[in-house]
Amino acid sequence: MTEILLGQTLSFAADPFSEGPRAARHERRGAVAIAEGVIRDVGRAEEVRARHPGARVTDLGDALLSAGFVDAHVHYPQTAIIASWGKRLIDWLETYTFPEEMRFGDPAHARAIAERYLDIVLAHGTTTVASYCTSHPESVDAFFEAAAARNMRVAAGKTCMDRNAPAALLDTPRRAYDESLALLRRWHGRGRAEYVITPRFAPTSTPEQLEALGALWAAHPDCLMQTHLSEQLEEIAWVRTLFPDARDYLGVYERFGLLGPRAVYGHAIHLTEREIARLSEVGAALVHCPTSNTFIGSGLFDLAGLAGAGPRIGLATDTGGGSSFSMLRTMAAAYEIGQLRGHAPHPAELWWLATEGSARALRMDDRIGNLVPGREADIIAIDLRSTPAIAQRADRADDFWEMLFPTIMMGDDRAIRTVRVAGVEPRTAASGA
Ligand code: GUN
Ligand code: ZN
Repeated sequence: MTEILLGQTLSFAADPFSEGPRAARHERRGAVAIAEGVIRDVGRAEEVRARHPGARVTDLGDALLSAGFVDAHVHYPQTAIIASWGKRLIDWLETYTFPEEMRFGDPAHARAIAERYLDIVLAHGTTTVASYCTSHPESVDAFFEAAAARNMRVAAGKTCMDRNAPAALLDTPRRAYDESLALLRRWHGRGRAEYVITPRFAPTSTPEQLEALGALWAAHPDCLMQTHLSEQLEEIAWVRTLFPDARDYLGVYERFGLLGPRAVYGHAIHLTEREIARLSEVGAALVHCPTSNTFIGSGLFDLAGLAGAGPRIGLATDTGGGSSFSMLRTMAAAYEIGQLRGHAPHPAELWWLATEGSARALRMDDRIGNLVPGREADIIAIDLRSTPAIAQRADRADDFWEMLFPTIMMGDDRAIRTVRVAGVEPRTAASGA
């Protein structure tokens, strides 16, 4: 059975960082036809309706239909410690993060937080995330099970760490390899799940563990590998003392086989010219985490300098280091950081980053991230007048981008009218999944 969603539509024919805003396609009276969880047709309402005469029609009025948001770097186990006060990265990890992560050896706790987390992000219009779990395999099973119950396309992995953290969180090189491999075999490619090889970051892994995970990735090159890179200056100085022979931070990962086209590095704020050149050459992905980078005080990512030219760029909340689950709030923070660096990102660039850009960073742009035929039907409908403050500004808009921008800057979960995951409204814990 084909269903047609009616509304405004926003899709992308190209990358707006290289092609400008004309890379975007906006239809004032548009339609998306979906069948069997896949987008079949996108275009002007009357034309799509004429091409699918027997279809069921769902009229979403003036709402904006878009691909669901793709959050390219999150820590679901940090859901309950979001908005924790007063620390920078290393003491934030020790004070808030590690004690909370220690609770995830308990499958009941892991399941409860995984379900809570996924219901929160769906309510914010996010249909795909790439998540770190904890070092406990139970935390990975809990996450993939909760995502499967909602039929969400997700990527996740066991966060490997064998030093510089509480003993209860540490594994070993051998256990990191064996447990990651067992989880990869259980989950990679099962339904909409993808396993991601996940060393937390260089300071919490010994050279032996990084080497083991590099070997695991070499044996499973179709997997993504995610980790953190050059987030804070203190962290970079620490990496220098732990790996004195490495030429720079990226050089540590490179030496252990943890650099490649399917590598996804979170933050990547304080990069050297050599690192940028290597990342571009390899086609690795960097993930901009703007609310986290201001909240933890990490620095200002060079979006204008990096996008469109070299590495792939995604956008992410980095919850719970980030201060919001909303990709709208995250776009707003990316805009503000751009302003502080002397370049205002265009709304088309921000929206692209939160959808197709993040999907490209995760190498999922053949399946999700855009309203085009053949992609999976992860679709959101956005109310562009979701609060009186947003509505009164949208009413003054002269064009579509001016109409959208107040929602980018001031919107949150109240702007999300409808969410479709593979074509259907997802079942949540509250709806009895
Ligand atoms: N670097 C290593 N672990 C983390 C984490 O959990 N959050 C952030 N923001 N940075 C990290
Ligand atoms: Zn992170």
